[in-house]
Amino acid sequence: MKIDGKAYRSVWRAPESPAVQIVDQTRLPHRFEVLTLTTSAAVAHAIRTMQVRGAPLIGACGAYGLALALGEDPGDAALESAYATLNATRPTAVNLRWGLDRVRAAVRPLAAAERAAAAYRVADTIADEDVAINAAIGRHGLALITAIAGRSPGRTVNVLTHCNAGWLATVDWGTATAPIYMAHDAGIDIHVWVDETRPRNQGAALTAWELGRHGVKHTLVADNAGGHLMQHGLVDLCLVGTDRVTRTGDVCNKIGTYLKALAARDNNVPFYVCLPSPTIDWRVADGLAEIPIEQRSAREVTHISGRTADGEIVEVELPPVGTPARNDAFDVTPARLVTGLVTERGVCPATAAGLAGLFPGEAAGPPA
Ligand code: MRU
Repeated sequence: MKIDGKAYRSVWRAPESPAVQIVDQTRLPHRFEVLTLTTSAAVAHAIRTMQVRGAPLIGACGAYGLALALGEDPGDAALESAYATLNATRPTAVNLRWGLDRVRAAVRPLAAAERAAAAYRVADTIADEDVAINAAIGRHGLALITAIAGRSPGRTVNVLTHCNAGWLATVDWGTATAPIYMAHDAGIDIHVWVDETRPRNQGAALTAWELGRHGVKHTLVADNAGGHLMQHGLVDLCLVGTDRVTRTGDVCNKIGTYLKALAARDNNVPFYVCLPSPTIDWRVADGLAEIPIEQRSAREVTHISGRTADGEIVEVELPPVGTPARNDAFDVTPARLVTGLVTERGVCPATAAGLAGLFPGEAAGPPA
């Protein structure tokens, strides 16, 4: 997507490889800074501290991290050690493990001297595929928005989204935002309710920034406002991303997604989840029981950062000093609350049969 007229992806190879460059998402929206990562340890740090975040993006970054590790040492022990370090950075989004598995499987049969270059090629392919996949998600999701716009000509289509499933969370386009950008670009009158997404405020800091830079109409709302907006007919459609979808259609996404799905069901608002196929965990059937939920620092709940009137970025404490806090970073929305899954191959019901219909090879599992 473009920032002030210049096209960016969220991760790319540095001109003076071996290195990758990222947009530091911990500095947005008040500072736009590009970071150059030259070691796999730096990539692991960037994922852990959420300088890069979002399931598809950490999948691509993990792959580049493994390529950097193989440039440092192409041996089997170093490969396994870097794999384990990168894989442990964030536990919930399955894309990270998927990207690492793909690179490791490609380089294992190769001679040491060939491994780093091959790993970079795989990482580049993952990044390019992610862009194409998200564009396809955008086209399928656009049909949903076009249908709503067609039912009430002349009226704004109101979409509610949670967290940041935008281009910053992927390599480009975003998942939930791809249909929104395409609808906007096609001239559809579209407006987005942006959940602030406590505690890290990815909606307020990142989604609002992205949409604003692209010129999409949007309004920031407190996390608890969505149900009220739906009760008053102010939401036509919920579009969210996801960090892991089970083969049965359960959806794990940023904490608070489940409550939006409950409110949507109570108000007959369609609730769609946009996902690239690498986000499907074919090994898992029961999202509540089997998906690891990342527990993050209580400090993210008790403290908040922002910009003062004179431009300084400061962090302040919200509750009484010493208040205990708990920070579950994701929740699981049961498949029964999901209207449909928007994938690169089309839209399907959130069921095992729905997913298997679009991805028969993957659903059948690896050959015995
Ligand atoms: O903790 P984050 O910011 O990495 O969580 C991101 C989300 O929950 C997104 O909705 C999800 O990764 C989908 S990204 C296209």
